Amino acid sequence: MEARVWSCRLAIAVALVALLNVAVVQAEEGEKVLTLDHSNFSETVSKHDFIVVEFYAPWCGHCKALAPEYEKAASLLSSHEPAIVLAKVDANDEANRELATEFQIQGFPTIKILKNGGKSIQDYKGPREADGIVDYLKRQVGPPSTEINSAMDAGNLIDETKISIVGVFPKFSGDEFENFMALAEKLRSDYDFAHTLDAKLLPRGESVKGPTLRLLKPFDELVVDFEDFQVDAMEKFIEEASTPIVTIWDHDTRNHPYINKFLESLSDKAMLFVNFSTEHDSFQPKYKDVAAEYKGKGISFLLGDVDASRGAFQYFGIKEEQAPLLLILKANRQKYLEANIEPSQIASWVKNYVDGLVKPFIRSEPIPVVNNEPVKVAVADSLQDMVFNSGKNVLLEFYAPWCGHCKQLAPILDEVAISFENDPDVIIAKLDATVNDFPNDTFDVQGYPTVYFRSASGNLLQYEGERTKEDIINFIQNNRDKPAHSTSAKPESTESESIDTNSFKDEL
Ligand SMILES: *[C@@H]1O[C@H](CO)[C@@H](O)[C@H](O)[C@H]1NC(C)=O
Ligand SMILES: *[C@@H]1O[C@H](CO)[C@@H](O)[C@H](O)[C@H]1NC(C)=O
Ligand SMILES: *[C@@H]1O[C@H](CO)[C@@H](O)[C@H](O)[C@H]1NC(C)=O
Repeated sequence: MEARVWSCRLAIAVALVALLNVAVVQAEEGEKVLTLDHSNFSETVSKHDFIVVEFYAPWCGHCKALAPEYEKAASLLSSHEPAIVLAKVDANDEANRELATEFQIQGFPTIKILKNGGKSIQDYKGPREADGIVDYLKRQVGPPSTEINSAMDAGNLIDETKISIVGVFPKFSGDEFENFMALAEKLRSDYDFAHTLDAKLLPRGESVKGPTLRLLKPFDELVVDFEDFQVDAMEKFIEEASTPIVTIWDHDTRNHPYINKFLESLSDKAMLFVNFSTEHDSFQPKYKDVAAEYKGKGISFLLGDVDASRGAFQYFGIKEEQAPLLLILKANRQKYLEANIEPSQIASWVKNYVDGLVKPFIRSEPIPVVNNEPVKVAVADSLQDMVFNSGKNVLLEFYAPWCGHCKQLAPILDEVAISFENDPDVIIAKLDATVNDFPNDTFDVQGYPTVYFRSASGNLLQYEGERTKEDIINFIQNNRDKPAHSTSAKPESTESESIDTNSFKDEL
């Protein structure tokens, strides 16, 4: 069933693969990367202290882009001491599905670092070009933290454009040092760790004797110290200190890790989109003040350049003419927005949002004036009336206009709808999910088409059967609430009951 739910996304990807096949063949000639599958995965992994496994799908564009870089990295690392082995698994192959499930593969490519014969597993969070991969993996294979002994060490280890975490100690022993090392092991895939006896060697911050945890970052305060060496406390400190007050979304790729982190955060997300070339300077200070005021209070802030963040406009269904635009996305995906906002309005609008005075924005097509095709058109604004409050049994298809599988289903749904045309208790409807918002805690739509059925009494089911007229009709008949007054609810009924049809229309 799962394969079918995803089918539309796969279909697009398959079309792209055809164009890119040449590159794949070339990438596979190198052979420094081990190919693993279900038959030899465990055996191979158990033999290595450190093995990197890429889970890929043959149709995935990002995987193709990675392939030559990954191969080159494998070749550069082949003589490394201790050994760093790179491998790959085709997670799309049915035979390897169990492996993909075991490693909780959600997207492609996913790269995992397996240590100690596979006993410890860590996500790969490094770059995707050969030199970056090599660099990152070398740091993952050695000790989790490197000693800084000289200003030159400090210069080599501390990258001005990234976050570095340095433990300053009077001696390299004791609880604080051990906790620091445990933390470094735990978070080594996310940050660079170092330790030193001499804080004066570090490029920023006051000289301290320690024990002190010093975080150096390329934004905001640039350096922050922390002195509680409980592992949990340090972890929380690092999480907070490594999040910019305002995340910047512009064309600078060095900001991408912060944007990803922002988008993944569980807090409410405020995003202000302005034209950086003309509006950045008038908005940035006021916005940053507001962000600082709400720091640690459940809202994260991002400032995006309209030109760099076009993808977000498309995704959220907003338009460039609406910029300067402030949008808040709640964890439950509800949206709140203010178009053409002025710098002086930001603080009061955010306060109103926090006080619950701003109404959520629900993207909807207009409710159609005429809706008399067999399959009814549902939109966000008519969802309540048509599906939840109509007292009918409703089959609702979530579709995308570009989706081929949806096009195949359309005539079948038409036939289903026609067969129920004289049944006032059944509605067949479709909703264009690319331009209408719907509650994702009610409808879990992972691919198109997704079909739900809600019985008159409110029982909600996802339809996962075959996409044939007969199966869909049977499903509706088996799950609908039978009308108490009538016995003639057969789908193929040829009786023409104009009264019922009229009341049916009134309900809409
Ligand atoms: C694992 O098995 C596959 C399929 O039989 C084979 O292509 C691959 O080379 C094997 N890998 C190793 C490391 O033995
Ligand atoms: C931003 O402003 C500049 C200068 O007015 C203009 O040329 C550019 O097209 C604008 N960018 C966007 C995305 O509107
Ligand atoms: C709804 O969307 C939010 C935000 O992306 C997500 O965290 C949550 O898991 C989704 N809920 C369901 C039921 O899918």
